[in-house]
Amino acid sequence: MVVLTARSENTKPQGRLTMQTVEIGSETLCLRSLDWDRDRFDIEFGLQNGTTYNSFLVQAEKTALIDTSHRKFQELYLDALTGLIDLSTLDYLIISHTEPDHSGLVKEVLQLAPQVTVVGAKVAIQFLQNMVHQPFQSLIVKNGDRLNLGNGHELEFVSAPNLHWPDTIFTYDAKTRILFTCDAFGMHYCNDYTFDEDPELIEADFKYYYDCLMAPNARSVLSAIKRIDKLDVGIIATGHGPLLQHHLSNWVNCYQQWSQEQAKTDTLVALFYSEDYGYSDQLARAIAHGIQRNGVAVELVDLSDAEPHEVRELVNQAAGLVIGMPSQSNQNAHAALSTILAAAHNKQAIGLFETGGGEDEPIYPLRNKFQEIGLTEAFPPILIKEPPTQITEQMCDEAGTDIGQWLTRDRTIKQIKALDNDLERALGRLSSGLYIMTARKGDVKSAMLASWVMQASMNPLGVAVAVAKDRAIESLLHVGDRFILNVLEEDNYQSLMKHFLKRFSPGADRFAGIKTYSASNGCPILADALAYMECEVTMRMECSDHWIIYSNVQTGRVAKIDALTAVHHRKVGNHY
Ligand code: FEO
Repeated sequence: MVVLTARSENTKPQGRLTMQTVEIGSETLCLRSLDWDRDRFDIEFGLQNGTTYNSFLVQAEKTALIDTSHRKFQELYLDALTGLIDLSTLDYLIISHTEPDHSGLVKEVLQLAPQVTVVGAKVAIQFLQNMVHQPFQSLIVKNGDRLNLGNGHELEFVSAPNLHWPDTIFTYDAKTRILFTCDAFGMHYCNDYTFDEDPELIEADFKYYYDCLMAPNARSVLSAIKRIDKLDVGIIATGHGPLLQHHLSNWVNCYQQWSQEQAKTDTLVALFYSEDYGYSDQLARAIAHGIQRNGVAVELVDLSDAEPHEVRELVNQAAGLVIGMPSQSNQNAHAALSTILAAAHNKQAIGLFETGGGEDEPIYPLRNKFQEIGLTEAFPPILIKEPPTQITEQMCDEAGTDIGQWLTRDRTIKQIKALDNDLERALGRLSSGLYIMTARKGDVKSAMLASWVMQASMNPLGVAVAVAKDRAIESLLHVGDRFILNVLEEDNYQSLMKHFLKRFSPGADRFAGIKTYSASNGCPILADALAYMECEVTMRMECSDHWIIYSNVQTGRVAKIDALTAVHHRKVGNHY
């Protein structure tokens, strides 16, 4: 290993940001963006030891850049990169994962390398198209696909969904025995050591990072470990922190052991689909997203290559089953469906969706069979007659939310019962107003009755709203999203409250029969509200089972100047 530039001329500290360029294998460089002082990562992720964003350059007969860096490193990173390669000759840009800490400079790299072919999972390429707003050549890769860069550098891609987003792939280079894993096996730790020489220095950060990012997807971790087990790995080149080489098996064993322990306690939904058929992949991931919102684990299984014993074992473990209709001509999928039917039992929840491939297995006969066995249908069959839109994805997300809520209903009741009487009465004296949040993102609209709302700042004006994690509207309330806070009127709130408290089926129009008009931010204002405020989300804080959504208030209006806000008095504090 040769350290080319610990702190090179072209990577002068900018504040406490520095670059390190290190040769980590034959024709393979690591560009480490060292962020010495970063103390928050995701909003909920406290950091003590900064972080690094690692990017990699393989220069064989063909050249490939694996991931980029965070936007804050724009100048330092691009200076370092263009000092190593003339970007107009770069052949491939491999995207392991599209979160902005790794893909924050993809747009700039594309501008300097318009000829490059972007390589990634199907979902990653879709995300990127929405992020960079410019055309680019792309190559979608699946698990096991290979890309030959010459000189023995044959890259193999490993699908690793949910580590930490659904789009994640690992890349393995057979020549250098380096496995590039992006978030997986990483840690937020910043120092000059490129490798893991001293495990005692980093083990606490390695575990903390696992707990925050990986534990919620323990089953996906186990699937990924199974997939990389056959590879002869010499270095795990992670996207954050030191690269793992000196204690490799120890780190992998830790992931395996922690994930096995975590997976035992999870409530699980087995989601069967055919990755390559119709819109199965897109719809399955939207449903999985909704399920996970409830803290329920999801294991995605491709019906096309599922082994019967694995299917049986998974169905036995699962509290819920979701199945995307495979093609009628897919023999392996048919065999797997028979195995699922044989192992399913009447304590489970079931949800079925069409996948729109043109020759889907008919959904209703299968539904009848599950009903005969006695499974509870958690959402009505999702029928796909045309290419999915944002609205279809929202419907799938809401269907996932429904099955997740059904599976966690006992847990919720137990939590409610857990408070002691005095405490719940005391908490019940916290009163609040009554509000309807209405949000719109693209074509998708949603609404929610809210009572845990408060003004949270004066300058700029800001409000905070607590939104339960299992609410489907949560996905329309990310940083940068906009919504309306409609204030309900003391003597005129019953019908609006009743309407928005109803249980809506997935995809149902929450605003049917309700008078609205459009705000300047595009969200619906309720015509019968006493007042409204247009808000933009600027921060989210994770608080156990709720998100606190802090938003700047941009404009507002009161309809009746003398009317009062509806007040919500509770007797007990163990529910809304
Ligand atoms: Fe390091 Fe999920 O991004």
